[in-house]
Amino acid sequence: MDALEIFTALTTPTGRADPYPYYAELHQLGEAVRLAPGSVAVVGYDAINSVLRDPGFRPADEATWDQSFPGWRSHPVFVQGADWLLNSSGPKHTRIRGLIARAFTARRIAGLEPAIAAMASDLLDAMADRGADGSEIEFMHDFAYLLPVTVICELLGIPEWDRESFRPLARDLAGVFEFSELKALPAINAAATELLAYFTGLAAQRRAHPRDDLISDLLAISDSADGRLTDTELLHNLTLLLVAGFETTSNLLGNGLRVVLEQPEQGDAVRDSSVPVAAFVEETLRYDSPVQLTSRIGYETKVGDVVLAAGDEVMTVLGAGNRDPRRFTEPDVFNPVRADGGPLSFGGGAHFCIGAALARLEASVAFPRLLRRFPKLAPAGQPVRRETFLLRGFDTLPVTVA
Ligand code: HEM
Repeated sequence: MDALEIFTALTTPTGRADPYPYYAELHQLGEAVRLAPGSVAVVGYDAINSVLRDPGFRPADEATWDQSFPGWRSHPVFVQGADWLLNSSGPKHTRIRGLIARAFTARRIAGLEPAIAAMASDLLDAMADRGADGSEIEFMHDFAYLLPVTVICELLGIPEWDRESFRPLARDLAGVFEFSELKALPAINAAATELLAYFTGLAAQRRAHPRDDLISDLLAISDSADGRLTDTELLHNLTLLLVAGFETTSNLLGNGLRVVLEQPEQGDAVRDSSVPVAAFVEETLRYDSPVQLTSRIGYETKVGDVVLAAGDEVMTVLGAGNRDPRRFTEPDVFNPVRADGGPLSFGGGAHFCIGAALARLEASVAFPRLLRRFPKLAPAGQPVRRETFLLRGFDTLPVTVA
């Protein structure tokens, strides 16, 4: 198969079920491969790293959309997305990222640990009740999805009574990362509009009565920074935090559990602490990355052996870089104590994931509790993968706990 055929196969049900053999074929073709005029995939670890760290490569932004999707301004999700950190570059990105990072402190994240532990325990209690007689539990729905979305709500300061209605909206909005058909846009736009209205109301309340939460901190920063972060930019980036932070983390939990179900000795090692949970989480990120791909717009340069033209779409395939045999010994083996760790799953350079510490914390709190609480945890039927390629995870992951 040529590079384009391999890449096309990745989006079929077989490719989505297991992209790794296809990545192995791409690695044989080089660090980067041209798929078609205007389109390049970067699969080598070092090449991905250098693209992500090179400010000459920028995410697709308003100027790109004006060319590729001229009607974008009539879609609320794109209007919000134009302000998202993910889609900004240069001085605008530096300005917004710097201000948001001031509120997204290590102290605030570490301070969430007791709340995350309490939420995880509640969810495990519910799983224990429901599964006590050997009934099947659906891990994605009952744990992997609920924990991260509740944590984001806690971080942002969404009151408990609003959380139930909030979750499906967050999930609908996350569809924007995968959408390829215009018919998916109405639901995504509806979620974007409703979430923005919700955040607008919440921000007004917090401005009047600040609390100890991220929204209050961000408002204080935007108010004291002489308009350097406008209200609109702030509100738009709140919807980004929601979508960027929740499905990705759900998938980290699901993909890690799948490893444990297929290789029970990996779960035992976390249970008895012979492997530190942080090492288990890092290897899960490498072995089955929740985000498989991100993209940039290229300029006239060379990546691997491929000569780029200005405007080329450059897909950095993080999931492939994580299995690059030039970088990792036995890349297809799950080895949490490997000496050559360092996954690309949170990206790199200016856009490095702002929530990486939070995602790692959630998984590090969740896995030991889950595994110790349920020593008999076992698969119950076939897991079903989500029909997505960019975000990699499960729709359903049935287990028994007793
Ligand atoms: C396992 C979980 C997660 C994974 C795998 C992940 C992955 C990523 C990746 C690959 C990027 C870079 C995208 C690019 O360069 O184009 C990114 C950026 C980002 N992530 Fe995460 N993420 C996770 C969790 C979170 C959480 C929990 C939050 C927030 C609460 C978050 C918020 C963000 C934001 C705001 C950006 C944009 C940063 C920027 O462009 O400057 N992520 N994430």
